[in-house]
Amino acid sequence: MKKTSQHGEWSSRLAFVLAASGSAVGLGNIWKFPYITGENGGGAFVLVYLVCILVIGIPIMMAEIMLGRRGRQSPVNTMRDLAKEAGGSRFWSLLGWLGVVAGFLILSYYSVIAGWAMAYVVRVGSGVFDGVTADGVSSIFGQFVADPEKLLAWHSLFMILTMLVVARGVKGLERTVKFLMPALLMILILLVVYAMDQGSFQQAVSFLFEADFSKITSDGILTAMGHAFFTLSLGMGAIMVYGAYLPSNISIGSTTVIIALADTAVALLAGLAIFPIVFANGLEPGSGPGLIFQTLPIAFGHMAFGSIFGTLFFVLLFFAAWTSSISLIEPAVAWLVENKNMSRMRACIWSGLVTWFVGIGTVLSFNIAADLTLFGKTFFDILDYLTANIMLPLCGICIAIFAGWVMSKEATSDELNLKSPLLHTSWLFLVKFVCPLAVVIVFLKAISVI
Ligand code: PFF
Repeated sequence: MKKTSQHGEWSSRLAFVLAASGSAVGLGNIWKFPYITGENGGGAFVLVYLVCILVIGIPIMMAEIMLGRRGRQSPVNTMRDLAKEAGGSRFWSLLGWLGVVAGFLILSYYSVIAGWAMAYVVRVGSGVFDGVTADGVSSIFGQFVADPEKLLAWHSLFMILTMLVVARGVKGLERTVKFLMPALLMILILLVVYAMDQGSFQQAVSFLFEADFSKITSDGILTAMGHAFFTLSLGMGAIMVYGAYLPSNISIGSTTVIIALADTAVALLAGLAIFPIVFANGLEPGSGPGLIFQTLPIAFGHMAFGSIFGTLFFVLLFFAAWTSSISLIEPAVAWLVENKNMSRMRACIWSGLVTWFVGIGTVLSFNIAADLTLFGKTFFDILDYLTANIMLPLCGICIAIFAGWVMSKEATSDELNLKSPLLHTSWLFLVKFVCPLAVVIVFLKAISVI
């Protein structure tokens, strides 16, 4: 028996592809991918990341969309009902809860970094970076993050904007992503062309695509795998809840491949836009979360119409973050509406307030509380490590195990409706054996057990 979603449905396949790509393409691609690639030595890290997308990311994304569409509710309720339908334990709904918690934690710091992007719209636009040197750009960034009040103000503004879209529901999401995603792609291509012309492009290509495995550690492999989950928005119910709004006649397999390709293309393009500038200006590729805020303004400060393109770039980065943040909070909001009988607006206010509050910890971790560390990690580092490297992969394999082992083959093949039985068997093999094993091995390697 097919269910319908009480929250509405996407109006077309394109709308779903744009919304899911909007969730996938975000700060992870443009801000995080370049700096973690820089920190982990380049090519070998990129290769491991690409393999993870292909072997783990795509099958789990298919599983998540499939579960969402079959359950048609918030991830907590979807997992509860599907477990019941398959005769599994009711504890599977805990998976939905873990996802809700991960969403809160990720959004709490995501919003702070998105706030940086918004602040840079104003800075680049007002010509602060015109003709400035690499040192000048770094010191402007340093002064900015040292000011907790400014960071808090931008974080608060971003949270308000996110909740405003979520309050308007599926239609609100759809309208926002439809014109933002193509615009983002166009600007990125323009920046790559600039980097080809003005930066050390060859050096950047070697850095990104020549794999030197002596440069990668087991923690680097865990980071690459965690990032595959983060960048595709997997393991926390975001894609599951978007799947819940997917019309029944749309093919999940091909749609997933399109989303994963778009996401990977944006990350690689971001790398090709940023590293040529890093190398041409003698900057440090492993300089951490400030990387794009310290490199791209150099390009904008020296190119013709740089302040216009620069402003546009940070506007789009902010938009990319916006379309992702919406999906980070949607599982919690959908649950509040379904279970607590709240209006969407009230659900948004409550979940927004909690996230905003946790975000204050990240704001302070860049200044006043920068020295407050645990295992050498600040509050922001801990949240990032815990969510991306541990929670998302862990929830991700549970999703794979549920789809592969708990649900019946008839149910999954009915919902996925892949073109051939061979494709379905291959997908089953990946979610049943390859994904769980790969994640467990990477975990054990990272804690140096094997
Ligand atoms: N995929 C987003 C990015 O790459 O920026 C981040 C994200 C969004 C992670 C939604 C998880 C999620 F559920």
